[in-house]
Amino acid sequence: METSCDDTCAAVIDRAGHVHANVISSQGVHDRYGGVVPEIASRHHLELINLVLDQALAEAQIGLDDLDLIAVTQGPGLVGALLVGLSTAKALAGARGLDLTPVDHLQGHVAACFLAPIALEPPFLCLVASGGHTLLGHVTEYAGMRILGRTLDDAAGEAFDKGARMLGLGYPGGPALERLARAGDPTAFAFPGGARGAPDAGQSSFARGLDFSFSGLKTALLYRLRELSDSELARRRADLAASYQRAIAEALTLRVERALARTGLRRVALGGGVAANGVVRDRMGALDAEVHVPAPELCTDNAAMIASAARYLPRLAYPSYLGLDAYATGERAA
Ligand code: KG4
Ligand code: ZN
Repeated sequence: METSCDDTCAAVIDRAGHVHANVISSQGVHDRYGGVVPEIASRHHLELINLVLDQALAEAQIGLDDLDLIAVTQGPGLVGALLVGLSTAKALAGARGLDLTPVDHLQGHVAACFLAPIALEPPFLCLVASGGHTLLGHVTEYAGMRILGRTLDDAAGEAFDKGARMLGLGYPGGPALERLARAGDPTAFAFPGGARGAPDAGQSSFARGLDFSFSGLKTALLYRLRELSDSELARRRADLAASYQRAIAEALTLRVERALARTGLRRVALGGGVAANGVVRDRMGALDAEVHVPAPELCTDNAAMIASAARYLPRLAYPSYLGLDAYATGERAA
């Protein structure tokens, strides 16, 4: 089960990493607020979780008796939202006498790559870029990774969403901005992207230049929008979108390129909603590396990736998991 943000998810997988059901119920209600409202997300998870669970079991054509382990996201995410999944998982595992494995959401995104048919084997580099996280990890083993870089401010998906909003597009902004950008010239405006970036203060020389920062880019777009008259803006919206998108794609690709050079790795996996972006994928594809992108429904938030991660993590027996709490921030992946 995965309920860390606004998607209520339940999946059934087997030990070999074949996905038998992967149900994702997106709460469309947040669109009108321009972002996820935590309290509303929790309430919807409560209404949906049992239905989503039943649907996953039905699609997998199994019953509760066939389950061997319950895996659930423990954090990071919205605590109220996480608690719905965690409590449901505890109740279900407790009532059935099953073991439970709590999973870190980001480790889950990495573990999407361990599922069939990609079934990537460590070591590889993994870029998770979603609405809530931007993380570059050196995946050294199935159960963990070494974090090489993360965002110092906004997540890459958040940068897409905020840019889209400034351009008058709806939420989630990434897909809308990508559509608008198709008619635009990516070189029309110079936005800070790949070349410049965060100072990465306090990092080792190995990690320097591997963190991300998108707040300067967002401000640059704001200034450009202010400079343009209404008629110019109407004419140049697609150019702005294309240039802005290119800057995000370059920022992501540059860090991946540096990390490849420093680790000597030649394989990269992408995860998170931003992995759906065509320009990001094209840029990564031009690197001197094998690029793996799981199916779209395994890139965005889903429960199959959480179950996948659980295959390599310790199982907790009843009743030791009853005291587990959700956590809002931080990564536990080592
Ligand atoms: O992984 P995800 O579904 O949810 C989490 O945030 O965990 O990622 C959603 C994010 C949103 O910010 C959305 O705008 C972005 O991924 N996104 C995209 C695209 N599709 C989704 N960003 C750019 N281009 C896309 N095609
Ligand atoms: Zn996510």
